[in-house]
Amino acid sequence: MSDIKIFTALDFADAQSALAFASKVSPQECGLKVGKELFTAAGPALVEQLVNAGFKVFLDLKFHDIPVTVAKALTAAASLGVYMFNVHCLGGKVMLETAAEAVAKLSHRPLLIGVTVLTSMDEAQLRGVGVNDSVEHEVLRLATLAKDCGLNGVVCSAKEATMLRQHLGANFLKVTPGIRPQGSDLGDQKRVLTPIQALQAGADYLVIGRPITKAPDPLAALRAINAQIATQV
Ligand code: C5P
Repeated sequence: MSDIKIFTALDFADAQSALAFASKVSPQECGLKVGKELFTAAGPALVEQLVNAGFKVFLDLKFHDIPVTVAKALTAAASLGVYMFNVHCLGGKVMLETAAEAVAKLSHRPLLIGVTVLTSMDEAQLRGVGVNDSVEHEVLRLATLAKDCGLNGVVCSAKEATMLRQHLGANFLKVTPGIRPQGSDLGDQKRVLTPIQALQAGADYLVIGRPITKAPDPLAALRAINAQIATQV
């Protein structure tokens, strides 16, 4: 499978564990997501190692700062050779436009993805930060802003993917965590879809962590999901 759909979330505490996992899977079968825990522990050198091993890397650092700082952080991240990275849409129009302009100037241009509403936020929590609207409306508002500012897509729940595809078109990417293959442990995820359901809902990339990383045979788990996906595409 050349066109990967899965980014495996490397939610590990150190480089050694992440590299041990990466040695068990193949870049043809999944990309790898490096988030705040692993990046803070292992740094850019690990990201470069994964890129040099041939993996598409999603650097999930969710930048949110003043526009010039975000633009510089993205430029530094792009120089590591990552395939995709992200910013918080709540940084606002100027931050998002400045981010997209900074990426457009680069010779290597990673996909720039916006984080809309964290799935840990419910309506009560939105009220607490001054948002008097439903989660769905807020997700659509921020995703629309991201598209208007030139981002390539958003991170969202697969349950929001169909709604976003209807409003923003199929070319605007939807990257979806909260995926659980049939029969696997939910962990702390509450609202989940299977890989096939997520793709049918319009997800472009699936972020999957523990169902692969904690499997007794991670490569077999990944291959089983890819085999299911192959029957659909
Ligand atoms: O192990 P699991 O499949 O639940 O991992 C999902 C990954 O996606 C984790 O790295 C988690 O932090 C991330 N994520 C998420 N929900 C979001 C955004 C990111 O689960 N809304």
